[in-house]
Amino acid sequence: MGRSHRQSYGGGEMSVAASLVFYFLVFLAEILMFGLLSLVLFWVVYYRGGFKWREDPAREFNFHPVLMVAGFIFFMGHAMLVYRLFRCCNKLTAKLLHTFLYLLAVPCIVVGVITVFDSHNLRVPPIPNLYSLHSWLGLVTVGLFALQVTHTLVVGFFSFWLLLCCEQGTASFRSGLVPVHATFGIITFMLAIATCVTGYTEKAFFVMRDPETKNFTYSLMGNEAIIINTQAAALAALGILVPVMVALRPFRRRWSERLTEHL
Ligand code: HEM
Repeated sequence: MGRSHRQSYGGGEMSVAASLVFYFLVFLAEILMFGLLSLVLFWVVYYRGGFKWREDPAREFNFHPVLMVAGFIFFMGHAMLVYRLFRCCNKLTAKLLHTFLYLLAVPCIVVGVITVFDSHNLRVPPIPNLYSLHSWLGLVTVGLFALQVTHTLVVGFFSFWLLLCCEQGTASFRSGLVPVHATFGIITFMLAIATCVTGYTEKAFFVMRDPETKNFTYSLMGNEAIIINTQAAALAALGILVPVMVALRPFRRRWSERLTEHL
């Protein structure tokens, strides 16, 4: 039988060795997430001319990588790690923080998508939409994220009202959904990483050209190329670290082992 959200985690079940590895991985993941967000901001401001709204669609595009990295990688990455990081608190606190971080990701993703469509549609002449591999991957990623958020809000809403009358009745139903929710979370995160990497590659090939000869300059490995590739490398490292921290059995709490037997 799963525990109710009023019960606390209970502590101290990780071995000393597992704790050392776990907190080292936390440290690495935090450096990568904060480093990536800072680097994408620095890249678009220093190399790509900063931010403008609809009056300059080329620079409105710059919101897109920053907000997508903020929403899908920074906020969603932290939301996924909350249950592993906040080992001291009761489960309700961790749940609220998890939901709050997901809710912060939503406006970033919505505005990030609007700005990239604007940057195509408001150009003269307009750039066609949804022709690239990146844009197709992006649609699947955004679609999965939207499903995840909608499903959580609907289940959360009904569970809240049902909890008022029959807590035990909804506990097994909710605990059955945890593995589904967690699996889809990891899949969406991995797809977001693949989408971001293809986006960086595409942008590098679009913009890194000699202004006179129009020859590609990406292959010359200038500073901008290094900054772009470093962001992609950070994404790849997070694609390994975050699922390892979420899914590996020694890093889990006892209550979650019971609730998510196969994750
Ligand atoms: C998970 C994160 C991301 C998602 C879901 C996403 C989604 C999309 C979508 C749906 C489009 C198509 C817009 C249109 O056709 O009008 C697009 C375009 C674009 N995105 Fe992203 N994107 C993401 C991250 C990034 C990142 C990090 C970059 C890095 C610079 C980037 C660069 C581009 C570029 C250059 C385009 C225009 C060319 C094209 O349509 O493929 N994207 N993105």
